[in-house]
Amino acid sequence: MEDEKPVWAPHPTDGFQLGMIIDIGADALTIEPLNQKGKTFLAPMSQVFPAEDDVNKHVDDNCSLMYLNEATLLNNVRVRYNKDHIYTYVANILIAVNPYYDIPKLYGPDAIKSYQGKSLGTLPPHVYAIADKAYRDMKVLKISQSIIVSGESGAGKTENTKFILRYLTTTYGSGQDIDERIVEANPLLEAFGNAKTVRNNNSSRFGKFVEIHFNDKNAVVGGFVSHYLLEKSRICMQSNDERNYHIFYRLCAGASEELKKTLHLNSPDNFRYLSRGCTRYFASKDSDKQILQSRKSAEHVKVGSLKDPLLDDQGDFNRMCVAMKKIGLNDTEKLDLFRVVAGVLHLGNIDFEETGSSSGGCIMKNQSDQTLKCCAELLGLDQDDLRVSLTTRVMLTTAGGAKGTVIKVPLKVEQANNARDALAKTVYSRLFDHVVKRVNQCFPFQTSSNFIGVLDIAGFEYFEHNSFEQFCINYCNEKLQQFFNERILKEEQELYQKEGLGVNEVHYVDNQDCIDLVEAKLVGILDILDEENRLPQPSDQHFTLAVQTKHKDHFRLTVPRKSKLAIHRNLRDDEGFMIRHFAGAVCYETTRFVEKNNDALHMSLESLVCESKDKFVRELFENSSTSKDSKQKAGKLGFISVGNKFKTQLNLLLEKLRSTGSSFIRCVKPNLKMVSHQFEGALILSQLQCSGMVSVLDLMQGGFPSRAPFHELYNMYKAYMPEKLTRLNPRLFCKALFKALGLNDVDFKFGLTKVFFRPGKFAEFDQIMKSDPDHLAELLKKVNKWLLCSRWKKVQWCCLCAIKLRNKMHYRALACIKIQKTVRMWLCKKKHKPRIEGLVKVQKLKKHMERFNEVVNGLKEGKQEMAKQVGELAAAIDALSAKIKATVMTWKEIDTEYQELVKRSEQLLASMQKKKREEEETQRLKHIQEEMEKERRRREEEEQRRKQEEDDRRLKAEMEVKRKQEEEDRKKRKEEEKVIQV
Ligand SMILES: Nc1ncnc2c1ncn2[C@@H]1O[C@H](COP(=O)(O)OP(=O)(O)OP(=O)(O)O)[C@@H](O)[C@H]1O
Ligand SMILES: [Mg+2]
Repeated sequence: MEDEKPVWAPHPTDGFQLGMIIDIGADALTIEPLNQKGKTFLAPMSQVFPAEDDVNKHVDDNCSLMYLNEATLLNNVRVRYNKDHIYTYVANILIAVNPYYDIPKLYGPDAIKSYQGKSLGTLPPHVYAIADKAYRDMKVLKISQSIIVSGESGAGKTENTKFILRYLTTTYGSGQDIDERIVEANPLLEAFGNAKTVRNNNSSRFGKFVEIHFNDKNAVVGGFVSHYLLEKSRICMQSNDERNYHIFYRLCAGASEELKKTLHLNSPDNFRYLSRGCTRYFASKDSDKQILQSRKSAEHVKVGSLKDPLLDDQGDFNRMCVAMKKIGLNDTEKLDLFRVVAGVLHLGNIDFEETGSSSGGCIMKNQSDQTLKCCAELLGLDQDDLRVSLTTRVMLTTAGGAKGTVIKVPLKVEQANNARDALAKTVYSRLFDHVVKRVNQCFPFQTSSNFIGVLDIAGFEYFEHNSFEQFCINYCNEKLQQFFNERILKEEQELYQKEGLGVNEVHYVDNQDCIDLVEAKLVGILDILDEENRLPQPSDQHFTLAVQTKHKDHFRLTVPRKSKLAIHRNLRDDEGFMIRHFAGAVCYETTRFVEKNNDALHMSLESLVCESKDKFVRELFENSSTSKDSKQKAGKLGFISVGNKFKTQLNLLLEKLRSTGSSFIRCVKPNLKMVSHQFEGALILSQLQCSGMVSVLDLMQGGFPSRAPFHELYNMYKAYMPEKLTRLNPRLFCKALFKALGLNDVDFKFGLTKVFFRPGKFAEFDQIMKSDPDHLAELLKKVNKWLLCSRWKKVQWCCLCAIKLRNKMHYRALACIKIQKTVRMWLCKKKHKPRIEGLVKVQKLKKHMERFNEVVNGLKEGKQEMAKQVGELAAAIDALSAKIKATVMTWKEIDTEYQELVKRSEQLLASMQKKKREEEETQRLKHIQEEMEKERRRREEEEQRRKQEEDDRRLKAEMEVKRKQEEEDRKKRKEEEKVIQV
């Protein structure tokens, strides 16, 4: 939000008001309303939204606004509504505001014609455009389609549904009366199934899914109506301002005198089933005059007729008779229907009083005799049987072994009243089933290729008091909301992903838990209720407590005292429960849940009507009588509850919807007063929120809501293009168009099979395309130019691609060689490496031979022998070398032979060493011997020498002695001489 720019802030009645932000708090903004200067208020930050620059501007598709939020949506719808543009798109979803008056020419034949074959968004938003889109989708995609029309009571669902049916049958009908019949079936269905309520004078009190079937040529061949949940309580009771089903009043007002007499009709205040509600007829000034005074109620006479431009009881009666004729009902069938309706009215007038006897039972009042007679006559029943069946109840005893004994239990007044009302409800609802069945027989079809189904069912709603019917409706809406989420949010995002658009994900709340809370097996509320119905004495309180105990901590379920509204807080825990639905919390009051869940008649009444003398009445109950036996057998345990019947129907419907393509129409009620030109913002805002439009806006903000397959666009615009262009393939054709139109790249995206448009851009594109011829010529020039440019670019691109390719090929070739080289090398290495290694090893071994030779040379003995062995080993080594060189040997082979040689050489070495050792030993021994010899000899020599020396010494001594002797002798001679001398 920008400064100085107005914003949308919440307003209690208008929804939003324009204001300026004057202060920003922690979680709230202070706003000054534009129209009340000086007065400020606080608004939560999450509820203040940026406003468009021009708030008076409006757009057909809300998504083409700058800011997509609930405030701008509401404002856009408001501005448009004020200009009588009641339809607005939010992407492909249509918002339809009820104008409550006939907008001139909006639905006329011209409008029908103009929408034929036009894409969504090319003309102002319209329900016809949605119908046509469904038809075209069916035709192109060959898938059945459904249009889901939702909204609260009085929002215009039924009216829009009728417009769709009329459009499809008029535009794509086969031209036979079947087209008319499909449209004419509506007055009949509405007469029996619609009623005046406080919210809608012509409120459909049942849901319906109308299928229009088409043949392989896509022309209408027939139709089929399925209906859901007729509101039965209305048959016996209405609130003050409401009425019973239209048919009762129409019959009273419009029946001929003769018919009136036959059916014993009278003014509405003479019938209990009508008198407690509003008894006035719908009539215009003129038609009011035509109704006899005797047929008018006192209230009508006093206050005058009810007024509605579309309703006129007397006129509608005649129109209905004409419609019956048109769709093929004959007079008898018509009378049958009226007879049963009158029968129900008279049945309601039967009164009971206490007998006063001890049995505590009741009897029919005397005054009711005439009524009983009328009723019995009209329904083909036996008067007495009817009397007895209404005042007693048949029971089968099982006591005392007398199994199957029938006893009649008298009923109290209240019980008899209930039995009467139950009979009336059953008869009427069977009648309604019959009307639908009969209507379906009016437009039969043998084969159908596809269908377009329109679902007109009440939208999510809540009131101060919500009962079982509301519970069922809201449960149904939870399921429809889930379907809506799946289709609009989930599937949309999946599609973006599949087509590769790269759009951010939007988160939404999955309501599966709420659906489970209602319909889960055994623990779901519906099953708990069924369980309660099966108890001997079922009670609403017990059921309520059971629900609350089973789901004590369930996020979606709480007790009424936690409600924000005081009126709910007054309820006790066993009187109701609150469910947090996708669109808000609703407090359900559980009184009569048990009763409403079981619509089976008690046995005596059932057999009474099944055995009616009137063939028509009998036929109404035909189905039930066939299953009667099984029903009796199954008793309470085997009953099929209203809730579960609805669940099954709903699941079938959802299955059907899921198998079709879908479109959504969200109807909006502009005011509670049901008047034209009054826009109650807050009321409308809450409807928009309830219908899930806000999450859609979130998605659309970042998404591409409009899309068209290339081939579809191609087919659409082919006619406007010269031949040269139409020869292009669809994708290129679209691209050429878009580029030529100068569409902004952010406004569309090309997916794989489709082109996606930003909100509102498809219409823009279409407008440009279909503008005046001059412009088209200009456009063609542009397209041609773009094509030329793009082709030139393509040529350039192709050249570049070729060059790139060549380079790539070259590069790849080199890479291949490298790979080849490497692989070869690797293979070679793998093959020869063991050989080389083997050779090296063998060479090494060979080298050792030199040492061997040295050793051999050192040998003294056996040298020759050893040398021979060494020689042989060397030769073996050489042989292995030669072998390795000559043959491709594996590592293992080489190794084995090498090891052999090693072993041999080791053995040889060992033997040589042994020899050497031996030789050395001998040498040593010899040496020792020699030493010893030497020693001996030395010793001998020593001895000799010693002896010699001794001899010498002795000789010497002898010589000494001799010398000494001689000396002395000499001396002595000397002396002697001396002496002599002397
Ligand atoms: N497009 C319209 N143009 C004029 N009047 C309309 C249009 N749509 C609805 N109305 C008026 O609004 C009334 C209520 O519309 P409708 O019956 O279609 O409501 P609904 O949504 O079907 O309500 P319910 O759920 O009660 O059946 C119609 O009777 C008619 O008067
Ligand atoms: Mg309706």
